[in-house]
Order: sequence, then structure tokens, then C-alpha cells
Amino acid sequence: MLQASYPYYLANEACAPNQDLAVYDKYTGEVATRVAMADATAIDAAIAAAEAAAEPMRKMPAYQRQAVLNHCVKRFEERAEELAQALCIEAGKPIKDARGEVTRLIDTFRIAAEEAVRIGGEVVPMDISPRAKGYTGMWKRVPIGPCSFISPFNFPLNLAAHKVAPAIAAGCPFVLKPASLTPIGAIIIGEVLAETDLPKGAFSVLPCHRDGADLFTTDDRLKLLSFTGSPEVGWQLKAKAGKKPVVLELGGNAACVVDEGTDLDDAVARIVFGAYYQSGQSCISVQRILVHESHYDEVRNKLTAAVQALRSGDPKDEQTFIGPMISEKEATRLHNWVLDAIAKGAKLLAGGAREGAMLQATLLENVDPALDVCTQEAFGPVAILSSFSDFDEALKTVNDSAFGLQAGIFTRDIYKIQKAWDELEVGGVVIGDVPSWRVDHMPYGGVKDSGLGREGVRYAIEDMTELRLLVIRNPH
Ligand code: SIN
Repeated sequence: MLQASYPYYLANEACAPNQDLAVYDKYTGEVATRVAMADATAIDAAIAAAEAAAEPMRKMPAYQRQAVLNHCVKRFEERAEELAQALCIEAGKPIKDARGEVTRLIDTFRIAAEEAVRIGGEVVPMDISPRAKGYTGMWKRVPIGPCSFISPFNFPLNLAAHKVAPAIAAGCPFVLKPASLTPIGAIIIGEVLAETDLPKGAFSVLPCHRDGADLFTTDDRLKLLSFTGSPEVGWQLKAKAGKKPVVLELGGNAACVVDEGTDLDDAVARIVFGAYYQSGQSCISVQRILVHESHYDEVRNKLTAAVQALRSGDPKDEQTFIGPMISEKEATRLHNWVLDAIAKGAKLLAGGAREGAMLQATLLENVDPALDVCTQEAFGPVAILSSFSDFDEALKTVNDSAFGLQAGIFTRDIYKIQKAWDELEVGGVVIGDVPSWRVDHMPYGGVKDSGLGREGVRYAIEDMTELRLLVIRNPH
């Protein structure tokens, strides 16, 4: 399904000066295709082109920006299966999850098409004191200018879309660096954008080595940096970004609380999905499962059986639930955390074995909460079970983390829901479901080490625009 090679996109045009980047099938380990890589000269040219495109993009009418986004929706629908197969190969994403990501890509562009024509403003009454009598104020949003985007490997299409689609809606040119491990999704987005009449320079999609990529962060011609990826890299980039605002969508060790009086079969089914789908490689994957002591044994038994039954193997197989992690290196890193926890007294309930990049869906209990597998972002198919007796204590345990992206709470008690919403230090609280739940128009992002700012199209558009005030004095 993949072409033999792919270009990069510089100032709206396909360029293939080399085929330097080998992209591997993450399950077989074989080279699946090759991609052109941008060097510093190409990146510099892309930024110059984006700077030149800022004015035509700003002046492009909303209905035309909407038409570009609608064209993308149509083309992604037409190419949906091809896109899903590409994700399955380049990310090792089980084909069902890959198809799910394509539907979300389409949602994200559709939402952006809707938002493109409703970027409004506000009238601000000015006559708050005698000296302001006769003045009227109003503000509108203007595009911030050329944007720099860096997207991750775990959702090669949709997390690139969460930057690209709002930028087009807002009228911002952009340069995008997709993850080198999974560049194909973003390149196909570039291919589709090249079919539109976006002004020259409006977009570039440039796979490149990390060491050639500094300009994405440091160049002052870029007016916003939006990064999705690891906390370690994200905070380093922020320190180098200069005066430009920075949006960081980073990781977490998301918790899910199962309180008294919950439908346990439903909770277990949702937790299995939230902890293990696409091998747990989501920033909001369930990592810490806290179960009320009255249900603990039952949940442990049901969950263990369900996790042991998960089918792992070739992501191209329709029946596969657990595919490979993105690389053997990442699988080894997480496997070592699991082995370390077991050596220090944790009990293995399910999984625990690794072969190459394939790490079994793993469930642990009795884990020392100070260990890496609990405090760091697992970003793989590993979850930890523990019990609590008091709901308030459970909330404190959820907050006992450097991270704060989303939390899931299974409870039917309205007062506990309110308390969780008030007390949890996270970007979002999901009741009756796992923290891993997301639809693409909702505000999404974290606090603490999990990041800065919110995505979710409308909220990304806020970051990609600036308020500009108009004050009118009427002397009569
Ligand atoms: C993420 O992994 O950061 C995003 C999760 C999602 O979009 O579902």
C-alpha cells in the first residue's frame, strides 16, 4: 500500500532531492518505504516562504480557507483505507485502531472547516467611568503568523491534523516536522494540501533529523511553536524557543478510579481499552488503576482474565489488539521498568514478556509508587492496579504525580464528581469512562509536567491568533 518513496513538501511543492530516511514496517522490521529528508537550507527556505505567505494567508477569506479544509475532508474520505494501511505499517498500529485514527483525522478537518467561518470577536463597553464616556471598544482575532509544528509518532495523522487544520482555519502559514519514525501520514496530508490553492509558502512538511531541526524552535520568523511529544523534549524546546509562545502537549501517567457502586464489567471493559489500545502508546493511556477495596478482588480477577485474553500479533490482522511498540528500544525500556518493579516486590498478574518490539499487555499490583513504572510515563501496554478505602485519598493519589493530563473516574455520586472536578490537577476529568477518552473538538491538554495550552481546534485557533483591539472615540 505504501509507495516506494515519498517526497517532502517545501512551500507547497513536492521535492525529492534524496531518499535519506528509511521508514520501517514496525512489525516486520523491514524497510517499508523511503522518504526525502530536509536539511537546514531547505528548512530555512521553508520558513522564508512561510514568512512571505503570512500576508496572503491573513487576507484569504474565511470561505476559501473553509473550502481548503473541506477539500481535505473529501480527499481523506476517499483515501481512508490507504491512510489506515499506511498507519498500520509505519506505526505498527493495529488496523482497527488505524481506521479509528483516520475517522478522527476527518473529524478534525471537518471541525476546522466549521470553525474557519466563525472566528469572531466582541464589543467591549468602554464607559466604565466618566473619562471613558464616548468611547467604544471591540476586538477581533488576527492570525499570529508563521507557525512551527512538531508532531509525534503515536498518532501520525491526527496529532499533525490538530496543528495543521486549525492553522489553515486561522489563516496561519506553517512548517511541520513530523516524527522521523512515522512521517508518511503527515506527508500524505501535504500531498492533499498541494491539491488546493493555498498561497505559495503556506505549508511545508519536512521530515528531518533532530539535529537539523533546531530552526523549528529557535527561528524568530516563526511566531508560535506547537509541540506534541515527550515531556523531556518538550520542556527543552520551550527553553530554546525565545520570545515565541509555546504550546506543549506532553505525556502523563494517567489514573483511573473505580469507586463503590460501579458497573464493574463496564469499567473493566473500558479500562482494558484505555490501558492497552494501540499498545498503550497514547499520552492518556490508563497507567494507574485505583479500585475501591470493596471491589478490588473482583476487578483484579476480571481484569487479569481480560488482559490475558488480548490477542497480540501482526497489526495488519483484523483480530489483533496488541501490536508492536514503536521500537525495540522503547519496548526494552518499559520491560526493564516492569522487571525492576517485580524485583522490588510487585506481583505480575498478566503479561510481562517481551520479544523484540512486542511487549505483552502487562498488569501489575503491589507496585512501590516511587518506581519508574508508576511515576514516569509508561507509554506502552503496562498498567498498575492498587486499592483505596477512601475516595478523597484516591484523589490525592491521582494528584501525587508530576503530570496532569486527564483522569477517569467511575462513580455515580454527583458530589464525588464535583469534588473530582474541583480537586484533580489535570486538564480534563472524564466521569464514567477512562482518561483515554477524547473527541477532537474538546479542549485537550495538561497541567504540571504534562504541558501548556490546549488543543481541540477552537482552542488551538485561540493560540494561533492574537486579539487586536479597536477603540473608537465619539466626541459628540
Ligand atoms: C496523545 O497521545 O497525546 C493524544 C491522545 C488522543 O488524541 O487520543
